[in-house]
Amino acid sequence: MKYVLFTGATGDLGRCCVEAIAGLGDWTVFAGGTNEEKLHTLGELERVIPVRLDVTDEESINEAYETVRRHTYRLQAVVNFAGIHTFTSMVEGNCVEEIEKMLNINVLGMVRVNKRFFEMVRIGRGRIINCSSESGWMTPQPFNGPYTMTKYAVEAYNDSLRRELMYLDIPVVKLQPGSFKTQLTEKIFRDFDQVIQTTNYFKKVLTTMRPMMTMELGLDHDPNKLAKKLIRALTAKTPLTKYKVCTGKLLMTLELLPDKAVDLAYKLLVN
Ligand SMILES: NC(=O)c1ccc[n+]([C@@H]2O[C@H](COP(=O)([O-])OP(=O)(O)OC[C@H]3O[C@@H](n4cnc5c(N)ncnc54)[C@H](OP(=O)(O)O)[C@@H]3O)[C@@H](O)[C@H]2O)c1
Repeated sequence: MKYVLFTGATGDLGRCCVEAIAGLGDWTVFAGGTNEEKLHTLGELERVIPVRLDVTDEESINEAYETVRRHTYRLQAVVNFAGIHTFTSMVEGNCVEEIEKMLNINVLGMVRVNKRFFEMVRIGRGRIINCSSESGWMTPQPFNGPYTMTKYAVEAYNDSLRRELMYLDIPVVKLQPGSFKTQLTEKIFRDFDQVIQTTNYFKKVLTTMRPMMTMELGLDHDPNKLAKKLIRALTAKTPLTKYKVCTGKLLMTLELLPDKAVDLAYKLLVN
């Protein structure tokens, strides 16, 4: 039996991936999250062991470590999916607190978990898989700054870790998903509407942008496509350094343009 620790297992994408991995038959998943109810339902799946794990809390990570240690001393993989999104302007509202909170979960959470479980991965000749986003490599969209900052940081962290752990033959892989309808994207709409209500400067631009955002985030990509890519990253003898899945076509076209042209395209939206 192979073992994987999976953070963010209680999320919409996490649950789909956990089911797919456990369905392989030769993997046991330690499914991490903080939502007790969702952990309980995950525990009803075969070959899934729910683990209470708050990635911002060292004590919780240590407790999760002890739980895993009761079953195995080695891991074939750690998969980091825990993450949140907050939609906010960079000059209004509680943007500093929001950015701090997001960096703590999306980036430092990953660093803490990988550090704590590293020895188990080394003994298991395992690999580390970190969930980034298309926001981690695409040109930033206005008002998505805080999330983009965290996913750019995930990319930098992932690549630095990969170049460090290659000396120990431990692969480090990043996933770069496009948009999927989940609790995370539902929250973006709620945040967006909240910002439209409260902004002093951006009401017109945000109101004009909303239909575009609805189109981009409303794309009903099948999360099983992500699960399939993840399984490739998990089981390939020699995994790629990164796996893209369901990349947004409209956003992708912006990648072909120079920075000033992208600025102009966003500016013309509201004229
Ligand atoms: N949905 C998309 O379009 C999309 C696109 C690209 C990348 N991603 C990335 O995919 C990952 C999963 O996103 P999702 O859409 O499935 O979101 P989701 O349904 O909102 O799930 C978020 C997950 O993060 C966990 N989490 C949040 N704070 C945590 C904390 N302090 N400690 C431990 N776990 C915590 C949640 O667990 P609890 O609720 O149990 O705490 C939950 O399992 C994220 O990293 C996200 O950035 C998503």
